[in-house]
Amino acid sequence: MAAGSSLFANDRLKWMRDENVRPYVFVRDENRIPQPGQHHAKLDWFPHEVLYKNPLKMDEVGFADRILSLETKAFGPSGMAMPRWVFYDCAIVPGFVAGFAHRTSALPASVRNVLGVEDGDEWTPLSLFIIIPTMSRDGEWVAHNLCSVNSLLAKEDQFYGIGFLSKSFGLWYANVKTCCGMTQWTSPSVRLHSHYGDFEILTAYTPVHSYSRTLTYRVKVDVGMWPAFFTKKAEDGDFLNRYVPAGFDVDPTDEKSLISFQRRLERREGPYFLHGTETISKALTDRLTVFKKK
Ligand SMILES: CC(C)(COP(=O)(O)OP(=O)(O)OC[C@H]1O[C@@H](n2cnc3c(N)ncnc32)[C@H](O)[C@@H]1OP(=O)(O)O)[C@@H](O)C(=O)NCCC(=O)NCCS
Repeated sequence: MAAGSSLFANDRLKWMRDENVRPYVFVRDENRIPQPGQHHAKLDWFPHEVLYKNPLKMDEVGFADRILSLETKAFGPSGMAMPRWVFYDCAIVPGFVAGFAHRTSALPASVRNVLGVEDGDEWTPLSLFIIIPTMSRDGEWVAHNLCSVNSLLAKEDQFYGIGFLSKSFGLWYANVKTCCGMTQWTSPSVRLHSHYGDFEILTAYTPVHSYSRTLTYRVKVDVGMWPAFFTKKAEDGDFLNRYVPAGFDVDPTDEKSLISFQRRLERREGPYFLHGTETISKALTDRLTVFKKK
C-alpha cells in the first residue's frame, strides 16, 4: 500500500495501513468500473491493492456466504436482514458490491469469534456497501445496504471508521456523482450518510417502506466534505455560508414531527437539508435543525 494520505496519520485509522486489510469489489464482470476513482481523482484515501472477486463464479460462493453471514448478524436486531435472493437479484446482478476484507489467517480473535470464521477462507469480509444505478436521467445511484463488523464488536476491538470508509470507497471507486438512499431516523447511520455531500431530505416519513419512520435522502457527492466525519468540525463554514435554518426542526423520535416535515416536502416548500456536523455533535434522538438554501 502506498503511504501519503493525510487520513493515515489518524491513529484511530491505523487498520487502514495494515497489509492484511484490503478493499474488495464483488461485482460481475459486465458491471466492473472501467476507470475507478477517475471522477474523484483528488481523493488519495484508497491506494490499496483492491481485491476483486467475481460473484458469478461458483468457487467464489464462499465469499458471498461470508458477506451474507455478516449482513444477517448486523441487521438481525433491526429485522431488516437481506434475503439471499435479494442479494443476487437486486444487488449483484444490477449493481456494485464492495467493502473491506481481512486476511483470515491474521484475524483478531474478537472478529473470528463474532463472525464464526472458518480457516479455509483466505479473506473475510468486514463490511459491505451496495449501490445500484437508478432510472434517473442524471445517473443517480441508490445506496441499498451498508453494514460493518463494528456493530458486533466491543468498542476497543472495532475498526474505527470502517462503515464510513466502506461507503466512501464504493462512491469513490464507482465514480458516483449523485447518490440517494434511505435509513431510519434514529439510526447511527444518519451520521455517516450526512457527510458525503449536502444532505437533502426527500422523504421524512415513508409509510410505503416496512418502517414508516424511514427517511430518504440525496447527496451530490463532494469528497471535500468527507474529512469532516473524522475531524468533527467540518469545513462547515462552507455549509453555513450556503444554508440557513429553515425555521423549524425535526424530532427523530416523534411521528407527528416526521409527518409534519413530510407534508412540507409534499407541498414542495423545500428543498430541505440536514447538517452533517450537527448529526455527530448531538445524540441520535435529539432534535435536528432543518436547513434551506440561502
Ligand atoms: C451503522 C453502521 C454501518 C455504522 O458503521 P460503523 O463501522 O459502526 O461506524 P464507523 O466506525 O464508520 O463510524 C463511527 C462513527 O459512527 C457513529 N456511530 C457508529 N455506531 C454508533 C452507535 N451505535 N451509536 C452512535 N453513533 C454511532 C459515531 O459517530 C462514530 O464515531 P465516534 O465513535 O467518534 O462517535 C454499523 O454500525 C452497522 O452495520 N449497523 C447495523 C446495520 C445498519 O443499521 N446499517 C445502516 C443501514 S442504513
